[in-house]
Amino acid sequence: MRQPLVAGNWKMNGSRASIEMLLNGLKSGIGAVRVAEVAVCAPAIYLSDVQSRLQGTAIAWGGQDLSAQASGAFTGEIAASMLNDFGCKYVIVGHSERRAYHHESDATVAKKFAAARAAGLIPILCVGETLEEREQGVTEAVVKRQLDAVIELEGVTALADGVVAYEPVWAIGTGRTATPEQAQEVHAYLRARVASQDADVAAGLRILYGGSMKPDNAKELLAKADIDGGLIGGASLKAEDFLGICTAAND
Ligand code: PGA
Repeated sequence: MRQPLVAGNWKMNGSRASIEMLLNGLKSGIGAVRVAEVAVCAPAIYLSDVQSRLQGTAIAWGGQDLSAQASGAFTGEIAASMLNDFGCKYVIVGHSERRAYHHESDATVAKKFAAARAAGLIPILCVGETLEEREQGVTEAVVKRQLDAVIELEGVTALADGVVAYEPVWAIGTGRTATPEQAQEVHAYLRARVASQDADVAAGLRILYGGSMKPDNAKELLAKADIDGGLIGGASLKAEDFLGICTAAND
């Protein structure tokens, strides 16, 4: 059985004060969440605060991006070893906002996946199509290309050390969620794609859904056979909403 994972992606939101409040809320409510694994991916500059508050709790934490390089003259970048230094378990790679605004190619994202893995971090590889791509009927071709970049660089077994998140770009932050059927279709496609190369890796791979997931739509999405959790943006900024999604993953 795949253990569900609910991961928050705070993006570039919050302040020291608001994050302290959010973490206190999460800490006091997390006891009721039995089944799902829970993590929050924080802005890097707050990881020290997150670590000191979450250490010893059931909530893991991670970064939102990392450099493909190990160290050196890369101003502004954050290395996998630095995320390790602050106790991160996860790191998001290839979020559509990084792909769109920072021009990260599939090849760059694959290198970041490899860098995370080499450091013992669990990369959460984001894939997903834009609205235009969905309307053109090329959703599967897009997610295949994004997934295959990692498989080509590292081999299919590398996915055993990671997590995939299907995040249709048109559903992110828009309030427009993919229907459970739409999401399941792509999740099943991704799993079949992996299974065509390694059935065991496919069976163990957690594929999260992301895109306007909220407490009131989480249950239906998470009930689908190939949806193994969520990557939550907006709703991860309120303890009550985030915990509501975690609770939905319990059922
Ligand atoms: P959202 O973001 O939940 O606000 O749609 C999800 C994400 O971008 O990871």
